[in-house]
Amino acid sequence: MSRLKAEHLYKVFGRRPEAAVKRLEGGASRDELRADGTTAAVIDASFEVQAGEIFVVMGLSGSGKSTLLRMLNGLLDPTSGSVCYDGRDLTALTPRELRDVRSRNISMVFQHFALFPHRSVLENAAYGLEVRGVPRVERERRAAEALELAGLAGWERSWPDELSGGMQQRVGLARALATDADLLLMDESFSALDPLIRRDMQDQLLDLQKRLKKTIVFITHDLNEAMRLGDRIAVMRDGRIVQNGTAEDILVRPANDYVASFIQDVDRSRVLTAGSVMTEGAVDAATTTVGADTPLADLFGPLAQGTPVAVRGDDGGIAGVVTRERLLAALGEQPAEVTAGA
Ligand SMILES: Nc1ncnc2c1ncn2[C@@H]1O[C@H](COP(=O)(O)OP(=O)(O)O)[C@@H](O)[C@H]1O
Ligand SMILES: [Mg+2]
Repeated sequence: MSRLKAEHLYKVFGRRPEAAVKRLEGGASRDELRADGTTAAVIDASFEVQAGEIFVVMGLSGSGKSTLLRMLNGLLDPTSGSVCYDGRDLTALTPRELRDVRSRNISMVFQHFALFPHRSVLENAAYGLEVRGVPRVERERRAAEALELAGLAGWERSWPDELSGGMQQRVGLARALATDADLLLMDESFSALDPLIRRDMQDQLLDLQKRLKKTIVFITHDLNEAMRLGDRIAVMRDGRIVQNGTAEDILVRPANDYVASFIQDVDRSRVLTAGSVMTEGAVDAATTTVGADTPLADLFGPLAQGTPVAVRGDDGGIAGVVTRERLLAALGEQPAEVTAGA
């Protein structure tokens, strides 16, 4: 069962929103509604997020991402459609039940990982739990664990200004992940960071996620970030989800010209991984074995030797194989790079 399921979600701002939904269902465009002063922020969005998955919603500013996210935790009531969390329809809960689910199971991660300067690193990391009323001993234990996962063991008693900028950001991430909420909603959480720190945070999130296995909905306007983080990516345009798939789906089979224009500048060989393009199953005659998250760019050399590359699965065993043909197919129009890299 999916952890989170949205079905035919609409959010319309303005007068007579229900009537606007009817018009949209009847084929009216977003622009027609706008002419009447009505904003269709989210139009007919349906998707499922599996437990333990990072689901990325990617789109330009104004495409409806934040509105969609706020409906997922009940902060905004959908004009139409439903959101199910663990099989419970959030729109059907009483306000009290909804508050309960929100405070126990769902955590919204805000854009800024700003720390309180007069609280220790440990107290900062424990802040989310403190707000939830978790007793001190327990919240400090959990915050210390989160700090350790974030590579900050030993810094618990330090003050924020004793840490580098990048380390401070990681305390913020530890704070977000230290909650017991299973579902994390992250709205452009890394967008304000400078590029190097941002990349470090992406790595940190992926690393933490391997161990914590939260269910994460991550919003970004940055395609490269989407491709790095997302197990699945939903691309939004003008309120609608125009494609929902893996990074490979989107790169190799863009749903329309809009998505195709978006991915033009992406270096596929750096985004696509051995695990995402391998053919599953037994392997013969492979000379090299790589991890599933190895970028295709790193396979050029081994594949140039003429034998397939074996791919290790999560359990350490061989999960599948990448052949030269498979690599070229995944890279689409960029075969020249294989020889160039080899
Ligand atoms: N509370 C609101 N009232 C009216 N219009 C809104 C409100 N919130 C968002 N919008 C509009 O809905 C559209 C989508 O906004 P938003 O969800 O914030 O997009 P994104 O997060 O992708 O930038 C925009 O046109 C925005 O102006
Ligand atoms: Mg937004």
